[in-house]
Amino acid sequence: MSEDESTAEAEQGVEDASAAITELAKRRGFFFGSAEAYGGVAGFYTFGPQGAALKRNVEDAWRDRFTVKEGNQEIEAPTVMPEPVFEASGHLDGFDDMLVECAECGVSHRADHLVEDETEIEEAESLPIPEVEELIADHDLRCPNCGAPLAGQPVEDFNLMFETSIGPGSGQTGYLRPETAQGIFVEFPRLKEYARNQLPFGVTQIGRAYRNEISPRKGLIRTREFTQAELEQFINPERDEPSLDSVADVEVRLYPATEQEKDDGGYLLTTIGEAVESGVIANEWIGYYLGVAQRWYDRVGVDMDRFRFRQHLSGERAHYASDCWDAEAELGGVSASPESEAGEAADPSAGDWIEIAGFAYRGDYDLSKHGEHADDSFTVFEQYDEPKTVERAVVEPDMSTLGPEFGGKATDVADALSDLAARDPDAFDGETVTVEVDGEEHAVDAEVANFRIEEQTEAGEHVTPHVIEPSFGVDRTVYTIIAHAYVTDEVDGERRTYLALDPEIAPTYVGVFPLLGNDEALTAVAREVVSDLREAGLSVSYDDSGNIGRRYRRQDEIGTPFCVTVDHEGLETAGAETATIRERNTTAQVRVPIDALADELAAIRSGRKAFDDLRAEYDDGGRGR
Ligand code: GLY
Repeated sequence: MSEDESTAEAEQGVEDASAAITELAKRRGFFFGSAEAYGGVAGFYTFGPQGAALKRNVEDAWRDRFTVKEGNQEIEAPTVMPEPVFEASGHLDGFDDMLVECAECGVSHRADHLVEDETEIEEAESLPIPEVEELIADHDLRCPNCGAPLAGQPVEDFNLMFETSIGPGSGQTGYLRPETAQGIFVEFPRLKEYARNQLPFGVTQIGRAYRNEISPRKGLIRTREFTQAELEQFINPERDEPSLDSVADVEVRLYPATEQEKDDGGYLLTTIGEAVESGVIANEWIGYYLGVAQRWYDRVGVDMDRFRFRQHLSGERAHYASDCWDAEAELGGVSASPESEAGEAADPSAGDWIEIAGFAYRGDYDLSKHGEHADDSFTVFEQYDEPKTVERAVVEPDMSTLGPEFGGKATDVADALSDLAARDPDAFDGETVTVEVDGEEHAVDAEVANFRIEEQTEAGEHVTPHVIEPSFGVDRTVYTIIAHAYVTDEVDGERRTYLALDPEIAPTYVGVFPLLGNDEALTAVAREVVSDLREAGLSVSYDDSGNIGRRYRRQDEIGTPFCVTVDHEGLETAGAETATIRERNTTAQVRVPIDALADELAAIRSGRKAFDDLRAEYDDGGRGR
């Protein structure tokens, strides 16, 4: 088979897999395009009953790990924020994608994606605009809508934020937040008080974010409204360390920037501990969260053979990040495990990889910017163990001279003198000192500035915390979990499809059936079982329609881990009634006393027991306890 043929076959495989998942998702109520009754609008999805429950379970598992177990605090901020927030954060100026518009049909496209689709280049967003324009011309790229050539069309920056107007009339300009993070940063002055001004501390938020994508595609993967689960970890970079030991032995598949830049670059299979020690992962907090995240992804059912961490290339990083690693999942069915495919699958360019989380080192970018633009303090006052005596340059300008000389600008000149004294005391060595206010230079007599060095006793210092941000795309994670759980096999000579979802996150935990749907005795007991299980907090679906095989298949398709069936055999002995529990993946069954069902199934869901424990315990048919 030629390389072109095998690539075409792989692409066809990706399309088939995603078409099958999309079809199942719609038919069984996981997710579907919104407002289809009105023709729909690209980039917006509704989660149906199964999808909403699955997403909620994923969010709960995230909250359990990144908020509760990490000892962080969760907040909920508005999704609309006023313009000055995004002036300060840099999103108004720097949150752009590359847009190219077809001169023929007027449809807009993401220029970097067109380049990626039609060339070998993998991360075209890291390229400067003129280079992307050149690539479009050199490869004679065409409009995917009408086929007209795009060569010569300008590629422009397009800001991704949705603008809105707050209040009636012309109102105040606001934006739907493009990331939940800003809702945390702007509240930092209060959040630090709740943390008793003690670094390190972390704040989390799970909520909607909005990006006006140029051309949303790949279903749930690139939407215009989506859910993020973000953690902002505030640290004193000079002092605070994560508990790296707890994740040092986590084995990871890394795809560092240096490897991506080589023609034949490959994966680095290592541990978090080694990667941090060797400097491949430059920041130990990033290393810590990569380890925590990988364990979490494993827990919620992401296939570790189709998972990797990829470092951003320098041109690809967001405006606030000085380093960033993405967690990526493969969605085309290609394993990245070197052992599984005789080494072939270890080629990082094989497969359909998508970002499902980013781990960015945001430094003091955000808090410094909000500190400059807002009227509050975005620093933390950290007390020294012992007060320190330090030498400080101070100015005490003679305002009775500055006032008449500079009029309305006198206070600004005095502030500029103070800043200069702190920054460059030598500037006060001459007879005059020059400061800049609003772009204009002003010379001040050194004596009027009244500069001196003073000894001061200081109890502590103001620190602008640095931020490490693990940021998870919840919708993408949900899609990945479904894609990695999607299995087809054969049962009783028939092809079946099931989702091998983990009991912790499966949207429906138990299906309960009477063996015969029209048998009053069986349906009455089955309904009692339903109510017992619901009372125990389990998510239960009751089904008495169609034959039992069909009912099992329906539950298999939505990933229900267990089905309980009430039959006449189990009701034979009054006072010792039993029902069968069937496990989804193996279809194995065990007969368990009805009055033990709720406890046993709850024990499996919480991880205290496994299905095999039940088989060992009740191998006599559930009667002899
Ligand atoms: N807060 C990171 C992001 O939205 O990508």
